[in-house]
Amino acid sequence: MKILIVSGTPGTGKTTVSQNLLNNLNAKVISLNELAISEKLIINYDMERETSVINEKKLIRYIMKLIQRYNKLDLEFLIIESHFSDIVPGQFIDYVIILRCDPDELYRRLKERGYKREKIRENVQSEILGNSVNFFLNKQLNKPILEIDTTNNSIDVITKTITKILTGKVDVNKFIIGKIDWLEKLSQEDRLDLFFD
Ligand SMILES: Nc1ncnc2c1ncn2[C@@H]1O[C@H](COP(=O)(O)OP(=O)(O)O)[C@@H](O)[C@H]1O
Ligand SMILES: [Mg+2]
Repeated sequence: MKILIVSGTPGTGKTTVSQNLLNNLNAKVISLNELAISEKLIINYDMERETSVINEKKLIRYIMKLIQRYNKLDLEFLIIESHFSDIVPGQFIDYVIILRCDPDELYRRLKERGYKREKIRENVQSEILGNSVNFFLNKQLNKPILEIDTTNNSIDVITKTITKILTGKVDVNKFIIGKIDWLEKLSQEDRLDLFFD
């Protein structure tokens, strides 16, 4: 069983794409946000940031238990998806795919989701800075870290692309991180202050 990490800023499509991958792969999905809530692996709720604060130590222990359990099944892939999936210890990770999204489109998706202005800003800023990529760079994995721009691609196309990556039907070099740079794009357009005033 290989473990695929799907990460990215909220709104980039992790949950939808991961569920869709189940149509193509003999796999199971663990959504860390849901797991943390259902198993009460939460420290408290941060009212100001409107988000649950995860008990990371307990969550990591729980993930390791689940990996052991799933290892006994005849699974090809275990998909772990979350914007904090970098908490998974490096030795368990076989593939990392980070979903990216242009800040304007991400803003639209999060607004549609009903997020408040401050929460949208915080997440869009995080995407502009490439935080989700940096978290994995800091882990110093000996596996390539891949990213996919979801801005103008349908869920279906993204799912197919990931399936091709996992089944070795596409050159992964096309997806190695470093090509997507919203900071550079926005500063060239002189629009950075729109998101960081
Ligand atoms: N590639 C895409 N194109 C258009 N809309 C998308 C795409 N990916 C996700 N969405 C929409 O954005 C919202 C967030 O998707 P979701 O899978 O919940 O993201 P995440 O799990 O990363 O927070 C959903 O309403 C979804 O339909
Ligand atoms: Mg999600």
